[in-house]
Amino acid sequence: MRKRYSGMVLALLFSANLLACSSVEEKHITPDAGMVEQSRDAAKSLLTQLGATLKQELSTNGPVAAVGVCKQVAPAIAADVSQKTGMQVGRVGTRVRDTALGTPDAWEQAALTDFAARLAKGESAEKMEFTQVVTEPTGKYLRYAKAITVQPMCLTCHGPAANIPDGVKERLAVDYPNDKATGYNVGDLRGAVVVKRAL
Ligand code: HEC
Repeated sequence: MRKRYSGMVLALLFSANLLACSSVEEKHITPDAGMVEQSRDAAKSLLTQLGATLKQELSTNGPVAAVGVCKQVAPAIAADVSQKTGMQVGRVGTRVRDTALGTPDAWEQAALTDFAARLAKGESAEKMEFTQVVTEPTGKYLRYAKAITVQPMCLTCHGPAANIPDGVKERLAVDYPNDKATGYNVGDLRGAVVVKRAL
């Protein structure tokens, strides 16, 4: 009896050890190219829809109304793309405006740090992405991030104080009292579109 028990403990220890090894190994697995392509498409879909809505709103109703649209529409588009693709699609910031939705987790923070280093070395932001297969307490995931840099039209709401119209400042102060997402210049790393897919 005693012997059998210790045998079981050994077996458990052995399998726990195997699991521990495999979770380390996961990071070296090359992600499936087709799945990465689907994550890339989901990220592009979010950016394209959001960019078009923002541009239209800025030109038809002006920047103050566009803040409201961003508040409602950005999370709605993210939810819609997530629902259609079965993946979790969202945006995170290097400095955050919407603390509930835009705060990076540890993996996303590592992706942003990687992007910042690559930008500093002169790599173009256009196709900059970071992808890994990771094992988390809730399971195994393919995680993908695409860099977002600041364009001239972003400055109205994310630029230095001088670029932000007074009406926008007032609106942001009401809607986002903890807003840290201003003071950016064109070309700065603003954040990432992030996609998480259960494997
Ligand atoms: C009309 C104002 C406005 C403009 C223009 C604008 N944004 Fe934003 N941005 C916002 C608002 C408002 C939020 C918070 C949305 C929310 O509540 O989820 C936000 C959030 C974000 C986030 C998510 C992280 C965070 O800080 O919450 C990113 C990334 C972002 N914007 C990037 C950009 C980029 C890149 C551009 C230019 C292409 C841009 N924005 C233009 C108003 C704007």
